[in-house]
Amino acid sequence: MATVQGHTLGDRMPRKEDGRFIRGKGNYVDDVRLTGMLHSALLRSPYAHARINSVDTSAALELSGVHAVITGDDLAEQGLAWMPTLAGDTQAVLATDKVRFQGQEVAFVVADSTYIAQDALELIDVDYEPLDPVIDSRKALDEGVPVIRDDKEGKDDNSIFFWDAGDKEATGKAFEEAEVKVRQEMYYPRIHPAPMETCGTVADYDVSTGEMTIHLTSQAPHAHRTLFAIVSGLPEHQIRIISPDIGGGFGNKVPIYPGYVCAAVASLVLGRPVKWMETRSENLMNSSFARDYHMVGELAATSEGKILGARSSVLANHGAFDAHAQPGEQYPTGFFPIFTSCYDVPAAYAEATGVYTNRAPGGIAYRCSFRVTEAIYLMERTMDVLADELGMDPVELRRKNFVTKEQMPYVSVMGWEYDGGDYEGALQEALRIAGYEELLEEQKQAREEGRIMGIGLSTFTEIVGAGPGKKCHIAGIEMFDAAELRIHPTGKAILKLGVKSQGQGHETTFAQIVAGELGIPAENIEVREGDTDNTPFGLGTYGSRSTPVCGAATAVVTRKVREKAKKIAAHLLEAAEGDVEYEDGRFFVKGSPDQAKTMDEVAFAAYTNVPEGEEAGLEAVTYYDPPEMTYPFGAYICVVEIDRGTGQVEVKRFIAVDDCGVRINPTVVDGQVHGGLAQGIGTALMEIIDFDEEGNHLNSSFMDYLIPTSMEVPNYELGEFVTPSTHHPLGARGVAESPTVGSPPAVVNAVVDALSPFGVRNVDMPLTPNKIWKLMREHGVEA
Ligand code: CDP
Repeated sequence: MATVQGHTLGDRMPRKEDGRFIRGKGNYVDDVRLTGMLHSALLRSPYAHARINSVDTSAALELSGVHAVITGDDLAEQGLAWMPTLAGDTQAVLATDKVRFQGQEVAFVVADSTYIAQDALELIDVDYEPLDPVIDSRKALDEGVPVIRDDKEGKDDNSIFFWDAGDKEATGKAFEEAEVKVRQEMYYPRIHPAPMETCGTVADYDVSTGEMTIHLTSQAPHAHRTLFAIVSGLPEHQIRIISPDIGGGFGNKVPIYPGYVCAAVASLVLGRPVKWMETRSENLMNSSFARDYHMVGELAATSEGKILGARSSVLANHGAFDAHAQPGEQYPTGFFPIFTSCYDVPAAYAEATGVYTNRAPGGIAYRCSFRVTEAIYLMERTMDVLADELGMDPVELRRKNFVTKEQMPYVSVMGWEYDGGDYEGALQEALRIAGYEELLEEQKQAREEGRIMGIGLSTFTEIVGAGPGKKCHIAGIEMFDAAELRIHPTGKAILKLGVKSQGQGHETTFAQIVAGELGIPAENIEVREGDTDNTPFGLGTYGSRSTPVCGAATAVVTRKVREKAKKIAAHLLEAAEGDVEYEDGRFFVKGSPDQAKTMDEVAFAAYTNVPEGEEAGLEAVTYYDPPEMTYPFGAYICVVEIDRGTGQVEVKRFIAVDDCGVRINPTVVDGQVHGGLAQGIGTALMEIIDFDEEGNHLNSSFMDYLIPTSMEVPNYELGEFVTPSTHHPLGARGVAESPTVGSPPAVVNAVVDALSPFGVRNVDMPLTPNKIWKLMREHGVEA
């Protein structure tokens, strides 16, 4: 008999937080207004590469309403002109010697209003000596090109790293012996997550207490507090990071940006709160980009299509400072080694070269687990090239090579242990929803009518939920996560987490986890995140790690609380603890379910009537280090039609079957998939951050950086598939990024399929009308 009077685990509960969001009552960093607060603006370099001879701030300082103008030299005096990056490099906070990308931070103005600060920027006189820029990563290592990082002693080229993984020799042998080999060059363009809310901070230093409160658009408040403490030398207990509502992060709010540091320094110097908020253009130009990988994918196979070997080679453009996000120095390409994906590949080898260029730094995991997006794109495109070479249906090729469910838990040739899965089953479900056979018929018909229709497939496994701590860290801090649960005397609860939602619905879904384990309705559980003074230390939310790591912590902490509740229930029931059972929020003696104590009764007793020797209260904290990552997977089918006259690609249908293990809230999961698909379709069709030869940024507003609207995306057809994770306490995996990872290759495969009768085998994203129009004309397609 269920007693939970409200929502619990697995319910399609409406999101608790939406009440405030749809009423415009969200509280974002830009909503923070403090007494005496000052505003700011950053002077940015117009050049991609130039020496700085001098910076004259005198006229700006004279402008009424200006309180301070900070330059790189001012910061250098405090040892703060450079800061460490997440990848272990250094990045200029404000430039001293040179500017190394267009838009680099040169000076910081603090004023009574943002408008005055912006006006003051015009009055700063910088004497630049332009240098030749290096924009194309393929030329970055050429003889005689300028050395970008001449600030680094002894640096005489633009290389950052060369790295490889896998068995080069065995893979080489597989290629030598294979009957069929394919090789495909491709470019995953530089793009931007472009969240609705840009990055910003309000730094508030209290001279009287020595406390620094930093309101921050942060996906990882605890890690950021530690980094601020290390860089500034301020004691960590006197730093408080408050990360209020966040309007989308997607990795963009993981790094520390110069604007954050400048605002904190200004607040320290002036003893007043200082706000810095990025404009949209600054966000697109300066804060972290994603992707920018030139890649080569190779597959070796038998003539029947059994894969014998896989090879990948990557040229990674990391911009002027190596500031990309990675879960430890052993992964300079993040989780790219997952590139063998859901296929049983006997030999594999991956290599990557990272280079500096005069582009903005960053390289964040945009709605993905540290470069897994690029890896899956490479594999799914190369699979289709192999299918084309073999004259085989891409469905059959994939089926032939899937890791089977009987092989689970499977250890890939690259060393990853998968936590269950049924790839064939998910594909079968996608084919069923699509009506694949009829689709093929429809395509035949369309071709006879002269219509250009394509069907694209993408089957993949993701890797999400970093830790375990022994394998993954951010700036040395191991990647566990934490949950703290307290039950109040009236049976209501508060749950405090180390992660930080940026719109994913944690206030609802994490309450549902507690509800599922303890029988308290999710409506009665308050979820708190994002305040380092009031939540346990965690590594934050990115790479879909919330559910795999903090969701597990929440389940474990709730079970701990349940154990204590059981002791109290035994006392109330006058029974031995071993005789007491729990079900749906009720405790009872085995065999007598009618004589039960409810969670409310037990909670009240925890504060009024505990057994002798037991402490009062009902709460616990857990720090959870996952034994492995989780491997959500999916099977996607995209149907497109291309306009012969204009080259416009229309996505007619998109079928997505995702397996994220046990679903905590299926409606939230659907929403995550919808959002991720929109971003993946945008990536495939329209998004790119590009530069001209001088390093001028060509996509610095939404006029030039196109993102999809409801006009460009179809009504998604979603399928549900659930194979529980073998190690997660709830059997759940992460979900948020799978659609962003899996959908771009499905779209590109569909477009290539549409154009394959005309001899097209590959086309690089974004598939803009202009590019497709040209491609069609080159291949003799008439309008
Ligand atoms: O780390 P992040 O919150 O971005 O990603 P996630 O762990 O994939 O979760 C995104 C949202 O989907 C959260 O609200 C999760 O609780 C929810 N979710 C779910 O309901 N069931 C799952 N198996 C996975 C995620």
